[in-house]
Amino acid sequence: MDQDPKRYTITAALPYTNGPVHIGHLAGVYVPADIYARFQRLQNKDVAFICGSDEHGVPITIKAKKEGVTPQQVVDKYHGIIKKSFEDFGISFDNYSRTSAEIHHKTASEFFKKLYEGGKFTEAVTEQLYDEEANQFLADRYITGTCPKCGNEEAYGDQCEKCGSSLNATELINPKSTISGNKPILKETKHWFLPLNEYEDFLKQWILVDHKKDWKTNVYGQCKSWIDDGLRPRAVTRDLDWGIPVPVEGAEGKVLYVWFDAPIGYISSTKEWAAREGKNWEDYWKDEKTKMLHFIGKDNIVFHCIIFPAMLKAEGSYILPENVPANEFLNLEGNKISTSKNWAVWLHEYLEDFPNQQDVLRYTLTANAPETKDNDFTWADFQARNNNELVAIFGNFINRVLVLTDKYYGGIVPEPATFSEIDEQTLNELKAYPEVIASSIERYRFREAQAELMNVARLGNKYLADEEPWKTIKTDEERTKTVMYVALQIASALAVLSEPFLPFTSEKLKNMLNFQALKIQPTWQNIATLSPPSGEMPLGRGGHKIGKAELLFSKIEDEQIEAQLEKLKQTKMDNKVEKVTDKSSDVSQNDGQTASAEIASQKPTIQYDDFAKLDMRVGTILEAEKMPKADKLLVLKIDTGIDVRTIVSGIAESFKPEEIIGKKVTVLANLAPRTLRGVESQGMILMTENANGKLVFMNPGEEGVANGATIN
Ligand code: 2FM
Ligand code: ZN
Repeated sequence: MDQDPKRYTITAALPYTNGPVHIGHLAGVYVPADIYARFQRLQNKDVAFICGSDEHGVPITIKAKKEGVTPQQVVDKYHGIIKKSFEDFGISFDNYSRTSAEIHHKTASEFFKKLYEGGKFTEAVTEQLYDEEANQFLADRYITGTCPKCGNEEAYGDQCEKCGSSLNATELINPKSTISGNKPILKETKHWFLPLNEYEDFLKQWILVDHKKDWKTNVYGQCKSWIDDGLRPRAVTRDLDWGIPVPVEGAEGKVLYVWFDAPIGYISSTKEWAAREGKNWEDYWKDEKTKMLHFIGKDNIVFHCIIFPAMLKAEGSYILPENVPANEFLNLEGNKISTSKNWAVWLHEYLEDFPNQQDVLRYTLTANAPETKDNDFTWADFQARNNNELVAIFGNFINRVLVLTDKYYGGIVPEPATFSEIDEQTLNELKAYPEVIASSIERYRFREAQAELMNVARLGNKYLADEEPWKTIKTDEERTKTVMYVALQIASALAVLSEPFLPFTSEKLKNMLNFQALKIQPTWQNIATLSPPSGEMPLGRGGHKIGKAELLFSKIEDEQIEAQLEKLKQTKMDNKVEKVTDKSSDVSQNDGQTASAEIASQKPTIQYDDFAKLDMRVGTILEAEKMPKADKLLVLKIDTGIDVRTIVSGIAESFKPEEIIGKKVTVLANLAPRTLRGVESQGMILMTENANGKLVFMNPGEEGVANGATIN
């Protein structure tokens, strides 16, 4: 690809519509993709920024079953929520489609047919895993088992999210149906396979040679290890009833594999957009002068770098992506983001608590983006980034410039006098930033790019602090005019350069600086070429009337942060009580990072007094019964030695009531009571997990320990 592509096709992973989107999605995929797309548009590039909802696949059907609704109802609900969240956060897609759309069904079917008719598939009857109780073949997320590559006991039928391997379900060791929990049998069925092994030479050349230098090391490394491992034929059809019907004879009751249809969703979404905008979609997918990029999370690498390119190659008329800038994962307060454990900051909930503060979250997520390794989002960092950077650096500079301009000149940009050496130097520094920021963005280093943006604000603050217009106004009016003039140029540069990162702030600032009234709009390019003292400057040569200062950012108070931490604490408590052992719904974008034998890190030190507050004692389970209409809860009667009390415990999926009666357990007796499904729970039973993730009672072990004996 030459250095100057004719146009850009920028895709962002189609999110599964089995839940809302959270900060992990935003940080990993959508904010970086949006920064890139906005930046290219600011360079006057022809951009198609494409996304849509991924509405097929097992996670959707699992969710539907769980909620007792149809898959269509699930996707309709979450498609709406997700689309709105993206709009609310300024993710500037040119088109947001969905894979249940007719245009997509048609596009994916035709794609399959073309490969089928071209003899690109192999057809084979093989033995696949089958759940006899559910009467269903088990593929993808319907099956878990031990990964043959890394030993992760919670690998899925199509992928191990711990080591990233792409798997066939029959390769799993000790497979288990996620529908019934049963061990599956093998049953014959016919499927169509894409013989990835035949694309090995092509992939070796394309990735390992052509893109060795320009792909991120995490992406290149994963690809290399798959290719080195040897590629195997991959089934592209499934025995399921939710998806796109396989469009060939003899395939009744079968649908396309979700990872076959989903990436074609990028094509159908582009078609939908092109039809609306009067463009030719093929320019964006078939012209060698188009630069195509896929923004994704690391769990999608194999699909975008190996399988989809092999599909495109097999089809024959498509271009391939220039780059696949995949990010690692974002954690939340030290733990993996998890949909099923509700361990997440949901975008729609964030906006309820921090209305109109989308840019603060965008900023924090970019500053902490998991570009080269997994990273952690903490509320303390969020507060510090806002208060110490956005408010204290960016906001403070803009506020000072606007307030002083209003005070000294009634809001009119003053005519500069002679530029001093400092002024020239400052403006020269300023004009270097567009190139510096651009270069980082072009290399997908968005945190570095944003850090440089903040350096523009720092430059402005330092300039004002050194030149002290609030002092010179009393002694040297001409000097003050020049200083304010230079400061205003820096402010206008910030309005332009911040657009990819902080689109809402940029918009507000442009309004405050009254860009609408300027004959020539300040651009990325003319900041780079500004040439004082005689040349054109972004805000003109003086006389332009700006508007009033508004607050760009406001301080985030400790109480707001405490409220968020409290929410998470509550989530942890809920998870403890309703111990979630079913991880099958935990399958969205950044969730599936469940390592089996994880050792939690040590918690912060406490004093003996803290420990002494816990009243832990030995008890015996006298009665146990299932809580009606709750899969996970048992209602227990416990003899604690001091009384017989009711405790509701989230262990129903691990123990049958009759098998635990008479068991000695450890009880946290003075935990504040909580009402669960109308039953007051008066304490907690202490549990741990064994190496297989099975719940185990913390029982006193030694014989002869009486009920009521305290643990200290
Ligand atoms: O991991 C996911 O959330 C998938 N739904 C991403 C699909 S990307 C694409 F290829 F459509
Ligand atoms: Zn693995």
